[in-house]
Amino acid sequence: MVTDSWGRTIEYVRISLTEACNFCCPYCRPEEITPESQHNLVSADEWMVILEAYHRLGVRALRLTGGEPLLYPQLEELLQRVAATGWFEDISMTTNGSLLAPKAKRLRQLGLSRVNISLDAVDETTFDARTGRRGQMANVLAGIEAALQAGFVNVKINTVLMESLSDDSVRALLAYIDRWPVIWRFIEYMPFQGDTFKGPSFEEWRAQLERLTGGELREVRHVHGFGPASYYALPNGREVGFIFPMSHSYCDSCNRVRMTADGKLRLCLLRDDEADIARQVRQGLDSEALAMYIAEALQLRKEKHDGISMDTPQREMWRIGG
Ligand code: GTP
Ligand code: 5AD
Ligand code: SF4
Repeated sequence: MVTDSWGRTIEYVRISLTEACNFCCPYCRPEEITPESQHNLVSADEWMVILEAYHRLGVRALRLTGGEPLLYPQLEELLQRVAATGWFEDISMTTNGSLLAPKAKRLRQLGLSRVNISLDAVDETTFDARTGRRGQMANVLAGIEAALQAGFVNVKINTVLMESLSDDSVRALLAYIDRWPVIWRFIEYMPFQGDTFKGPSFEEWRAQLERLTGGELREVRHVHGFGPASYYALPNGREVGFIFPMSHSYCDSCNRVRMTADGKLRLCLLRDDEADIARQVRQGLDSEALAMYIAEALQLRKEKHDGISMDTPQREMWRIGG
C-alpha cells in the first residue's frame, strides 16, 4: 500500500492510452485539434512494466481512458495481458461509446470489468453541439445497449452539465434513466477552456430533479467504483450519481493518480506537476525500481489544488484523461 505525504492511500490509477479522439466536446477538446494526433504513444510492453509497478505499490483499480481509449491501437492486447495477471481487482474504461457496439462483448471476454460512457444529451441537437458535431447519437446509444447486452454491470453514463437544462430536457433525461439499468451520473462542468462556470451547481440541479420527480433525493451509501461520485436514490428508487468538483473539493480523500498518453505521472488533475515515467522505462528501469521511483514522486503530491479556473491546468482535459 502506498501513501503520499498527506497520508492518502493511492489505490486507483487512471491511464490515458491516447490523446486521439473522434469527438470534440467543448469542455474538453478544441475543434482545431485533429482526431488522429497519436504520436509518442506508450506501447503495450511499456504499459505492462508501468502497471506492474503500480500493482507492486498496492494499487487495486485501473481505469483506461483517453482521448478515446478505443482508438489506442494495442487496446485488446494490453487489456488481455493485464487482465491475465490478476494485478487489479477492477479494470474499467471511460469511453465516448461511439465505437463500443462492435467491441463490447470482446472487451468483456478479455477481462474488462466495467465501462463508463459519456452522454451529455439525449436530444440530437444538443448532442451534436456537445460533440463538436463529430458524433452520431445512434452509435453511442448502440454502444450503451451493447455494453448491457455483453453483461457489464454498473455501467455508468457520465453527463457533464455545461448549463442549466429546461424542464422538458430534464424530463427526457429522466425517461432514459428509467429505460436502462445503468447508473446515470451528473458532473459539474469544470471550466478549463477559457470559459467561466455557468452551472448548474449540484444544489440547483438537485432542486430541479426533486421538483420534477415530486420527491426528495435520498443519499445512498453504495460505493459503485473508485471515483469521487456520491450516489442518491430518486423517488422511484433508481440511483443516480453526482460528481461536483465545483461545489466541493475532493482533495482530502483523493485516492487516485493519472498517467498521460505520453507516459507522464500526473500527481493531481488540476496541477501540472508531472514525473516522466515512460522515460524511466525506456532507460531500462524494471518494475521494482520503477515502483520505488513512483513512490518517491508521490511524496511530491500537494495537499490540495488551488481551485478550478480557466488558467488551470496547463494541460487540457483531452490530454489528461478526465
Ligand atoms: P468509478 O467511480 O470507478 O466508476 O470511476 P470515475 O468516476 O473515477 O471515472 P470517470 O472516468 O467516469 O470520471 C468521471 C469524472 O470524475 C471525470 O470528469 C473526472 O475528471 C472527474 N474526477 C475524477 N476524479 C476527480 C478529482 O479528483 N477531482 C475532480 N475535480 N474531478 C475528478
Ligand atoms: N468538466 C467536467 N467533466 C469533464 N469531462 C471532460 N472534461 C470535463 C470538464 N471540463 C468528463 C467527460 C468524461 C470524463 C472522463 O470526464 O465527460 O465523462
Ligand atoms: Fe473526446 Fe471524451 Fe474529450 Fe469528448 S470528453 S472530446 S469524447 S476525450
